[in-house]
Amino acid sequence: MSTQPLVHGFFDPDTATISYVVIDPATKAAALIDSVLDFNQAAGRTNTKSADKLIDCVQAAGATVEWIIETHLHADHLTAAPYLKHRMGGRIAIGAHVAEVQRTFGRIYNAGDDFATDGSQFDHLMRDGEEFKLGRVEARAMHTPGHTPACMSYLIGDALFVGDTLFMPDYGTARCDFPGGDARVLYRSIHKIFALPDATRMYLCHDYLPAGRKEFRWETTVGAQKADNIHVKLDTGEDEFVAMREAKDRHLDMPRLILPAVQVNMRAGHVPAAESNGTSYLKLPLNTF
Ligand SMILES: [Fe+2]
Repeated sequence: MSTQPLVHGFFDPDTATISYVVIDPATKAAALIDSVLDFNQAAGRTNTKSADKLIDCVQAAGATVEWIIETHLHADHLTAAPYLKHRMGGRIAIGAHVAEVQRTFGRIYNAGDDFATDGSQFDHLMRDGEEFKLGRVEARAMHTPGHTPACMSYLIGDALFVGDTLFMPDYGTARCDFPGGDARVLYRSIHKIFALPDATRMYLCHDYLPAGRKEFRWETTVGAQKADNIHVKLDTGEDEFVAMREAKDRHLDMPRLILPAVQVNMRAGHVPAAESNGTSYLKLPLNTF
């Protein structure tokens, strides 16, 4: 049996995202999952306050970053992966189906021929079932699409990082209305997760504080989700889930940062090349979403 990793969650109140530092206690190998690059949209300015908290945590533990992992190509925040790699080392990984998402959004942003749509901006593309290690802890990548076609969950020891598939049991599940999203596919991915042992610790990418709860939470278990998730329990039918999810998705607004976020995240967190005056620019596709 492999040792179990230490998990530290960091909540970003601006985007309701939780970033994780995962550490193998034996070797002090660390993985950073779903980092956030703070972005002031009005000023067009980024800063690294959130990412620096992850660095502080790694340094306080005396750990070494091996992996910088994305559960998916996020639409609600910019990733700090390149900054973290520059400061701490490690390899940036995302699901191999990211190429599909890059093709879709490359067209939407009319990104041009210099934008590769084969995932080559990332250091490593994780495949479904791929096994890897964090220090001595055994880890496995699971393709869990539905929210997006490239969504992955990562099982590191007994800790599962599910990205945007399930949220806390009292909040439910992720939306499926982004390009390439599919509620039926999400249901089947959730059942892959439900097949894991009930005691598996589960860590979420977001918490939006449902009515009636006062504190943000991001840790639960597979067993708790199967018993209590308000959208999908173990015995919820596929058609019932799909009808519920699609009805909810018809009324959702686009995330506030989707247009800057996807444009940067599809380049593995790099901003478009600077123009002749040395400034990088982001595009806004008009009347597309
Ligand atoms: Fe997401």
